Amino acid sequence: MSRIRKAIFPVAGLGTRFLPATKAMPKEMLTVVDRPLIQYVVDEAREAGIEHFIFVTGRNKEVIEDHFDRQFELEMTLRERNKKAELALLEEDLPQPGATSFIRQQLPLGLGHAVWCAREIVGREPFALLLPDVLVQAKKSCLAQMIATYDKLDAKANLIAVEEVPEDRTHMYGVVGMGERNGNAFKITGMVEKPAKGTAPSNRIITGRYVLQPEIFDFLAKQGRGAGGEIQLTDAMIALSKSQPFYGYDFEGRTFDCGSKIGFLSANVSYALAREDLADEFRGELNALLGKK
Ligand code: G1P
Repeated sequence: MSRIRKAIFPVAGLGTRFLPATKAMPKEMLTVVDRPLIQYVVDEAREAGIEHFIFVTGRNKEVIEDHFDRQFELEMTLRERNKKAELALLEEDLPQPGATSFIRQQLPLGLGHAVWCAREIVGREPFALLLPDVLVQAKKSCLAQMIATYDKLDAKANLIAVEEVPEDRTHMYGVVGMGERNGNAFKITGMVEKPAKGTAPSNRIITGRYVLQPEIFDFLAKQGRGAGGEIQLTDAMIALSKSQPFYGYDFEGRTFDCGSKIGFLSANVSYALAREDLADEFRGELNALLGKK
C-alpha cells in the first residue's frame, strides 16, 4: 500500500454566493475566527502526514499563493517590535520550501476537470483530495482518520468520506449506495451526482474528502460532461469503480459547509467557542444577543 504524500485543493471557484465579499478576494481566504478557510484544510492535511500541497487555482487567486509564502516586510517589522508569538505563529503555518504547487484551471469546467489539472504533479501514486468549502471540526483530523483506515484496505482501494443528511437535501450532493460494512468503512455499491429528488440510493452524501488512486486521471482525461454540463469527479469515480473498489467512510467530527452563508456563520461560532482564549467572553456575547443570561 503506497503512502499518501500529496493532496489536491481545488480553489478555482468563483464564490458567487459570497459577493460582494469575494469580488476581489478568493472565497478560500474568508476567515473563520482568525484563519482563512484554506488554512484549516491545509492543517487537516498536514496533520494527516501530507507532504505536498497542490492548489488548483484560477485568475484572481494569487493571494492564496502569497498566504503560503513568507511575508518578508511583515516578518521584519514583527521582529523589530519583538512580537515573538506572532512570528512563531507565522512560522508554524508556513509549508516547507518546495512543498506547495500551484496550477491554473484555465476554464471553470467542473470539479473533475480541476482534479485532472493536477495529474502531472500527482504522478502515478494515490493521493488525497480536500474540498476547502467543507470544514470538518474533529478531535483527530478527518483525513488522518481516513488514511488510518485506508492503510488497512486492499491494494488499489479508494476511500470517500460520507455523512448523513436529511433526504430532502441529497439532490444537492454526490450520493453513495451502501454495501457491506466493516467498522467505520463500508463498500460503496453505486454513486450518483446530484440525484433528482426521491431517486437517491441512500442519505449518505460525499463530503469533500477523498483518497483516490491515480487511475482516476485516465477517466477524467475523457472529459465527459455530467450533471450541470460539468466534468464531474463522481462520474469518473463511477467508471473507475468497475475495476477498483470504493469504500465510504463515516468519520468522527462535525462538518460545516462554508460554501453557504449559514454554514460559514455556524463555523465561525463553533470554532470561536472551541478557542480557549475566546470561548468564555464570546459565549457571554452570544447569550446577550440571544436575549439569554
Ligand atoms: C462537490 C461534489 C459532490 C459532493 C460535494 C461536497 O459538489 O461534486 O459529489 O457531494 O462537492 O461538498 P459541489 O459542491 O461542487 O456542487
